[in-house]
Amino acid sequence: MTDPTTATSPAADAAPGTGLLRPHAEQQFAAELAALAAADDRPRPPGWVLSPAAVVTYLLGGTLPGGAVVTPKYVGPRRLVEVAVATLATDRALLLLGVPGTAKTWVGEHLAAAVCGRSTLVVQGTSGTAEEAVRYGWNYARLLSEGPSAAALVPSPVMVAMQRAQVVRVEELTRIPSDVQDALITILSEKTLPVPELGTEVQAARGFNLIATANDRDRGVNELSSALRRRFNTVVLPLPASVEEEVDIVTRRVAQLGAALELPPVPAAAEEIRRVVTVFRELRAGATEDGRTALKVPSGTLSTAEAISVVTSGLALAAHFGDGVLHASDVAAGIVGAVVRDPVADRAVWVEYLEAVARERPGWADFYRACRAVTG
Ligand SMILES: Nc1ncnc2c1ncn2[C@@H]1O[C@H](COP(=O)(O)OP(=O)(O)O)[C@@H](O)[C@H]1O
Ligand SMILES: [Mg+2]
Repeated sequence: MTDPTTATSPAADAAPGTGLLRPHAEQQFAAELAALAAADDRPRPPGWVLSPAAVVTYLLGGTLPGGAVVTPKYVGPRRLVEVAVATLATDRALLLLGVPGTAKTWVGEHLAAAVCGRSTLVVQGTSGTAEEAVRYGWNYARLLSEGPSAAALVPSPVMVAMQRAQVVRVEELTRIPSDVQDALITILSEKTLPVPELGTEVQAARGFNLIATANDRDRGVNELSSALRRRFNTVVLPLPASVEEEVDIVTRRVAQLGAALELPPVPAAAEEIRRVVTVFRELRAGATEDGRTALKVPSGTLSTAEAISVVTSGLALAAHFGDGVLHASDVAAGIVGAVVRDPVADRAVWVEYLEAVARERPGWADFYRACRAVTG
């Protein structure tokens, strides 16, 4: 039996072969999705390409009866993924909530890919997101020459998802101005998108649903109205529970990204990854892992996602300019860049950490020196 936690899938390895810098989930993991569909003998909700159980396996990984290995995409509590998937099989929409870097976007993309085979119907929420992005717009050349017609209408990703029984993603929902958010209320409660200019409406086909993401930290930017909030089941994505879990997530994602970027492999990275993760966790928590030393917390998020990018940049340095091993000097600049956002306050927090923690810790002398050298 192959251990799904250590195996890399052929699909993930094949990603460089696509020639794309960043394939969509359904492209990168096409082989896994096909294997899951072939082995899936459970009932599928209308419009779904997999059963809910198979969608959960796609997200969390596992070995199929025929021996095919499904790599874990998300590392976290199973129950939480089950609640998210079950929600999508109901008439309620799914809201993924959490601090930045807890894989909200990532989970949303993979859920959409596994449920309907398509993750690309996306509305990116910003303060400038207009109603056209949620409802529909017009091709003005045609509108002027022909007047309002079905051919002049430019559907939003939401409208397309309703017509085709697919899942649409709304990123950063709370950044969208409240009046534009309100356009979603009718869509989610009536499952209808009226087009008064044409005297028609689009009714959602069975299988339509919506996955929204929002950051905890953004609370107050544009609060979700209670009317809209009631249309969602909320799933809160937590920060990784332990160092081991976070090291596992970073190691796995760094390997995938390195393969996609065709970086020469740097096998000996485990120790450095653990140190990066430890530094981030301690600064995030405001205390050392043993709980003995209280620390000041820097202003940045220091998320798992940032640990992944620090290590990936370090690997590029090690692969192209180093000796094939990831050293403290390869990750030091990245760590300092992530921690010191504010040149005064964060720098003080960082220097205190270096002197009080890193310097004293057995086996961390190289790390201390490398960080000191780039901290200035
Ligand atoms: N628990 C986790 N399991 C798997 N990957 C994770 C986890 N937490 C973070 N990541 C990784 O972090 C990266 C950024 O996540 P992202 O979805 O952009 O975060 P968010 O949208 O919550 O800000 C992704 O590459 C994802 O793989
Ligand atoms: Mg996101």
